[in-house]
Amino acid sequence: MKFFLDTANVEQIKQGLAWGLCDGVTTNPTLVAREGREMEEAIREICELVGPDRPVSAEVLAVDHDGMVEEAQERASWAENVVVKIPVIPEGVRAMKTCSDMGITINATLVFSCGQALLAAKAGARYLSPFVGRQDDIGWSGMEVVRQIATMLRMYDALDAEIILASARHVGHVIEGTQCGAHICTMPFKVLDQLFKHPLTDVGLERFLSDYRAMQEELGEA
Ligand code: E4P
Repeated sequence: MKFFLDTANVEQIKQGLAWGLCDGVTTNPTLVAREGREMEEAIREICELVGPDRPVSAEVLAVDHDGMVEEAQERASWAENVVVKIPVIPEGVRAMKTCSDMGITINATLVFSCGQALLAAKAGARYLSPFVGRQDDIGWSGMEVVRQIATMLRMYDALDAEIILASARHVGHVIEGTQCGAHICTMPFKVLDQLFKHPLTDVGLERFLSDYRAMQEELGEA
């Protein structure tokens, strides 16, 4: 499973890269606004930071076909690794088809059902982003949608898309995603950091080091 960071925060991306655990980045208008930056400036900096082999998703703001296509072309011109995020509304699915025919890489966003994922994949979206946490928030099973999409993609070779498990809220979502067939998980930095954590690791390390130090002290005293 690939790890994407779901953030527009440059320091978090730098840390993810330093750990060797950032295969790409996704942003959305909320995440860019949180950093108080203009979309173009932020996306250009992130694209340069991660390098050409790591995709960086930048979302359109228009909600009509022509506006989305125009913004998609603009975003795609910012850097070669830009992936354009388009919502799975009817105008968005039309725009996905137009853009994918133009060779623009599309990430279908705000996917909450397998049906929406099917529409996006048929329209040529390269990435399908089911939002797991937001489904869980309203008492539905976000992971079930991931499972259904994975099954669908396995059955139809012509649907050449990858699942980005989005709206991941905790380590459990990442782990379950690996069992459900998500190709990628995009996660907030906090979740990436949580993946390292286990109390027995800390206790075990402390014990190993103190046992060895105690032996060295004994030898030194002998
Ligand atoms: C996906 O690409 C979105 O940016 C993101 O995962 C949304 O997550 P949230 O529900 O935590 O805002």
